[in-house]
Order: sequence, then C-alpha cells, then structure tokens
Amino acid sequence: MMNTPTALSRRKFVGAAGLVAGRMITRPLFGQDAPSNKLNLALIGVWGRGLAHYDSISAENVVALCDVNEKRFPDALKRFPGATTYVDWRKCLDHKDLDAVVICTTDHTHAFIANWALKRDLHIYCEKPLAITVNEARTVRATWETKKGKLATQVGMQRHAHANFNRLRELVQDGAIGDLKAAYAWGNRQIRRPGYLPGEGEPPAGFNYDLWLGPAPFHPYNPGYFSGGAGANCLSWNMFWDFGAGQIGDMGSHTMDIVWNVVDAKLPTSAEAKGEAMNSDVTPVECESRFEHPANDWRGPITVSWYQGGPMPRAPKPFIDLTKIGHGAMFTGSKGFIIADFESRMILPFGDEADMTYYKPRSKDKLLPPVGHFQKQWLDACRNPSMKTACDFGYSADMIEQMLLGLVSYRVGKKIQYDPKTGTSPDTPEANAFMGKQYREGWSLDG
Ligand SMILES: NC(=O)c1ccc[n+]([C@@H]2O[C@H](COP(=O)([O-])OP(=O)(O)OC[C@H]3O[C@@H](n4cnc5c(N)ncnc54)[C@H](O)[C@@H]3O)[C@@H](O)[C@H]2O)c1
Repeated sequence: MMNTPTALSRRKFVGAAGLVAGRMITRPLFGQDAPSNKLNLALIGVWGRGLAHYDSISAENVVALCDVNEKRFPDALKRFPGATTYVDWRKCLDHKDLDAVVICTTDHTHAFIANWALKRDLHIYCEKPLAITVNEARTVRATWETKKGKLATQVGMQRHAHANFNRLRELVQDGAIGDLKAAYAWGNRQIRRPGYLPGEGEPPAGFNYDLWLGPAPFHPYNPGYFSGGAGANCLSWNMFWDFGAGQIGDMGSHTMDIVWNVVDAKLPTSAEAKGEAMNSDVTPVECESRFEHPANDWRGPITVSWYQGGPMPRAPKPFIDLTKIGHGAMFTGSKGFIIADFESRMILPFGDEADMTYYKPRSKDKLLPPVGHFQKQWLDACRNPSMKTACDFGYSADMIEQMLLGLVSYRVGKKIQYDPKTGTSPDTPEANAFMGKQYREGWSLDG
C-alpha cells in the first residue's frame, strides 16, 4: 500500500514530507511550500514581541492567534487571514491539529503555556525567560525530558546566533586563557519602581485583564503596566515579582547566554547573592549573584556570576573599563581573560607564563557550525526534531534555574547550598519557600 497522508498521522506526514523534500526536490507535492509540509501553528501574544515573529512564521499555516487584548486581532488577521482567534491560551492550545506554538506573552505565563503545550505534544518557541521561579524551570524541564528528541523547543535568546557565541566557546575550550576558573556576565539596565501600581481606571473594552493576570495574584488594573511600545511593553511589568523576574529574566537571559554557551554547566551547588534592600513588590535593580559549579570533563570547578543594575566584576587591569560594555561577559582563566559583548571579544593574556604556546586554535574545518537564522533553526527542527536547537528547554531551563537561584539567595539574605536533584537547599530550609510561588486559584502549571 502506498503511504498517503491518510495512512500517516498529519504530524508524521509533515515530518516525513520535510525529510523527503531534501531528497526529491523536483516533486512539488513534497516541496517546502506544499500545503502538506506546513506546520499548523499558533501565535500566543500577537503584538509586541509577537510582531518580530511574523516574518519567520508566515510560510507556515498560522491557524490560531491568541491575545488577551482583542484590539490586536484585526491587524494580526490581515497578516494571517483565516486564523481562529482566542483570548485564553488554554483554549488555543487545544485548537485541532496544532503542530507548534510561539509564545510571546508576559513572563509570568511562559512556564505555564510551555508546560501545557509540551503535554499536548506541541513544538514550542517560547520567548525568554522560560520561567520566573526555580520550580517553574524544573517543572518545564522535567516535562521536556520526557519529550526530548520528539519535540523541537527554543527559548527566544536569538542573540545566540551571533558568530561570536561560537568563537568564544572555541577560544575558551581550546585553551586561549588556560584553565577556565570563573565566568561573569553583567547588565546595566535600571528600571526603578516603588511598588505595584494603585488601581486606576478600568481595562479598556476588549482587554481581558483577568486573563492577563492569569496565574498571578490579583493586582488592580493600572494603565501604567501597559504604557510601553511594541516589544518594549515588557519593561512596564517585568520588574514586579508577580509578573516577571526583573533583569534576571530580561537582559539576564540574553547576557548569561554568552557564558552558558561556553561553560557547559548544569545546575549549581550553591548560590550567593546580595543587592539593594528587599522590596516585596519589586525585584532588585542592583544585585550580584555567584554560583558554584562542579568540574566537568573538560574543566575544573568554576564560579559563574551575574551582576545587574550597577555592581560590576573587577576589571583585570585599571586600563580596562568594563562599564563601557553595557551588557557583557568575562571569562577568567589560569593564563588570561576574555572580555566580550554579544558580537565581539578580546583576549588578554595575563602573567609571566602567558606566552600562548598552550593555545591550540582549531583548524577552520573544525569551527563550530553557524546557528543560522535562530527562528528558522527551530522551524527546521519542528520538521525533524532529532536536530538540535541552540537554546532548547534543557539548556535554557538550566540557565534560568541558576539565575533564579540568585534571587532566592537574595531573598533569604545569605549564601545557600543547593541540591540540584531535589531542587531544595539542604542548609537553608527557609530558602525553599522562595523556590516557587503561590498562584491564583484555578491556575495550575500542570494542565
Ligand atoms: N527576545 C527578545 O529580544 C525580546 C524582546 C522583547 C520582548 N521579549 C519577550 O517577549 C515577551 C513579550 O514582551 P512584550 O514587550 O511584547 O510584552 P507585551 O506586554 O506587549 O505583550 C505582548 C502581547 O502579548 C499579549 N499578552 C499578554 N499576556 C497574554 C496572555 N496571557 N495570553 C495571550 N496574550 C497575552 C499582549 O496583549 C500583547 O499583545 C516577554 O516575555 C519579553 O521578555 C523578548
């Protein structure tokens, strides 16, 4: 019997057609643009950051659009005519024959939507950060582990596609600074707010504020949470504990990615953070955190640090002004330093032994392959999930769990030991209360 779309499930057929497309490009039925080879895709959060995904998903069947703000639908429908609109992402995820979902909503909903979507066997592109608590990161990773190799996942740290990320990994792992000892990332963004905004006015018609709050505890409506422009509105809500993780989730996701891509770390065994005085409404602006990571097969134990909102790592020499790099990273080795931003890097050999003879640069044919277009990498993997994506949920959940542990240590006001197996602190039981958070009744991560 011939294999037909009816003989295969639709999902399998999309994958199969994609593979066939590589071999039989002369057969238009199986081409990239053949209707049978398009993913049925939902976009959740259609404005703001969602707009940045329009071009890359426009070659697919965008069958569902979801936004809590119904005013965003007419423009989105112009681009994706015929899509079904939803205001509640829980209903959207059950759209018939869905293959994949792009999540561009508020940070406090990411782990929820991602976990629910994994459970429905959907491929997922989720904007950063993947989670805003340690427990959320662990929940999503645990579900992802059961789907690994079958579903394509990517977290929106698209700067990862800069060639600089690969070059830094090669430099450090090929020994340009000797043995790696420590890595640092920092960001200088400062958004100060005294506390949650007082109730003011009513949500405009078509804006489903209760769904916007979703799992977050209730806070009265205030237009100040929605005063930012497209793609920058997140800066109006992401510093509040119930809606985000401050700069850790925001530029911290992007900037720690420079380090994470190099160091091959999993979860830390301790976290130690300090910063400005604790505000129970707002995440800290000024904060620094430090994590201890065990040795792996190519390096000894290292510390990884994150600095935000002012505090900075010490520069290797007074003539180097790290504050000139708004968001950057530094690697310290036994024989020198590498300092980087997202797109460039410099090496500083250091000490009498630093003659560079120990550095064996790889040949050109051994260079790491380019990531290419970051969103396309995910779309390609949706068709062939055995392909690796740069920022899959394993990589990204580990990275954000580490960062969020910094906030836990900050909140208890001391260094904590961490047991990565259980997600608890063996020496600081009071820290465990901050690994997760209370959600509004009726909302569960496990849907
Ligand atoms: N990768 C990047 O460089 C980058 C850049 C900007 C923003 N982001 C991320 O994108 C996300 C959105 O940021 P933004 O500035 O566009 O915010 P935003 O407040 O403008 O939200 C984007 C859209 O999502 C909708 N929305 C919010 N909550 C929703 C929900 N529960 N269900 C359905 N729709 C919902 C909003 O109405 C809006 O149309 C954030 O997580 C942010 O961190 C990433």
